[in-house]
Amino acid sequence: MKTYAALIALVLPLFTTPAHASPELAANSKCMTCHQVDKKVLGPSFKEISAKYKGDKTAEAMLTENMLKGAKGKWGKIPMPPQKIAPVDAQKLSKWILTL
Ligand code: HEC
Repeated sequence: MKTYAALIALVLPLFTTPAHASPELAANSKCMTCHQVDKKVLGPSFKEISAKYKGDKTAEAMLTENMLKGAKGKWGKIPMPPQKIAPVDAQKLSKWILTL
């Protein structure tokens, strides 16, 4: 039983790390200057974005593209400038936002 618990303790971080990687990625990519997970700042909250595109299978690709190219007129008058991040990172962020 003890070994079993130790094994779980060892394996668990392997599964939990990816979930934490994206908030860090968002912070490191300066997204949090304009966004927060559950509060509107300059841009919409990530949870609002997730709710808006819930069930939309094209959303992940579309949001990835909008991060890289910029977005405007969807949420308000303030546009989002194109983000200088790697496309793989944009995709990771897009995926993460849609899980919120
Ligand atoms: C300078 C401020 C600013 C920064 C920095 C910024 N955003 Fe935005 N973001 C906005 C604004 C404003 C909007 C709303 C644009 C609109 O109305 O279409 C937005 C919209 C979005 C959307 C929704 C796009 C859509 O098609 O509905 C996503 C997803 C998003 N941002 C993700 C990010 C991520 C991830 C980062 C970091 C890499 C980031 N943003 C950095 C201001 C910003």
